[in-house]
Amino acid sequence: MHILAIETSCDETAAAVVTDEGRVLSNVVASQIKDHAAFGGVVPEIASRKHTELIEPVVEEALIEAGTSGRELGAVTVTQGPGLVGALLVGISYAKALAYGLGIPLFGINHLEGHLCAAKIEHEVTYPHIGMVVSGGHTSLYRICSPSDIVRIGQTLDDAAGEAYDKVAKLLYLGYPGGVVIERISRGVDHEEIDFPRPLINDDTYDFSFSGLKTAVLNRVLREEIFEHVDLSFSGLPEEKKPLPGKEDMVPKIAAAFQAAVIDVLVAKAFKAVADHDMKLLVVTGGVASNGALREALGRKARETGIRLVIPDRKYCTDNAAMIGIAGIRSIKEGRCASLDMNAVSRWERV
Ligand code: KG4
Ligand code: ZN
Repeated sequence: MHILAIETSCDETAAAVVTDEGRVLSNVVASQIKDHAAFGGVVPEIASRKHTELIEPVVEEALIEAGTSGRELGAVTVTQGPGLVGALLVGISYAKALAYGLGIPLFGINHLEGHLCAAKIEHEVTYPHIGMVVSGGHTSLYRICSPSDIVRIGQTLDDAAGEAYDKVAKLLYLGYPGGVVIERISRGVDHEEIDFPRPLINDDTYDFSFSGLKTAVLNRVLREEIFEHVDLSFSGLPEEKKPLPGKEDMVPKIAAAFQAAVIDVLVAKAFKAVADHDMKLLVVTGGVASNGALREALGRKARETGIRLVIPDRKYCTDNAAMIGIAGIRSIKEGRCASLDMNAVSRWERV
């Protein structure tokens, strides 16, 4: 059976076709990054409007790439939440209309379950295991005993790791989104002289906290007097965004030191959860899991401890619809079909 999947929870308009055996036939993602970049973050109203423009061509492209016509589809799966309500509603409304028009069932999918399911696309995933989602909206650890038994054991108490990347990039005038650029400018940089805090690294929970780290970065930026202004509104003239003469090398140093702190915490907490629960497999996914330095650090620790590590390919770590299709297979098998009055869920406690 061919399944059409739709994902519009944040700033990517995405559609994919997968089979009910878990094969990805197409995976189309239209990023809105350039529409939000000038604002230094996702503007919900702009996201909704762009989804409205992009949803039709993106779905059409996914069908063409998969060599499938609407008539061959057996089900539609769509991200129901969590996410931006206006953005989610564009995908949900489109999915409802399509399912109704084609006379096929509709399934509402949890975005985080989708991220966790991304690991299954190209890897064998066994149970039980520990799953970690590290994205712009979430930093959470899960004990996963079966595809339907997912228990959150820890989460961030304030900012998500990706959000911290984005805010630090903003502080350093590096543009939006922050993850990719911080990764790039940090590569090979010696940051020994800067030692940022590793929040909650040694505590007894599986929770995270990144807002204090962000404040430590801000204080350092102010103390070093790197910029003439620190303007968190992301406005200002281009020359004001450049480091003052002689301060240029502080930007990559601070970025690299920040990234090292985030990675230390993520690696420590993920492997603490693995050890405490006596697990043999760790799955790490979400936008931040596309970070090469994090992937390497996790890989090193996995080799040291003899734990199997699965991190999806980068294109399946960041938001995409293939993961929503793969997560949908379980809902389809369990017959958990949604009705046409299905609504968006902005906060979803279940996962
Ligand atoms: O999973 P995702 O695409 O969307 C959410 O569900 O939030 O994650 C987006 C987040 C952003 O905060 C972005 O800065 C971060 O993932 N990100 C990265 C990298 N690529 C994306 N963070 C660190 N390094 C990267 N290479
Ligand atoms: Zn996501």
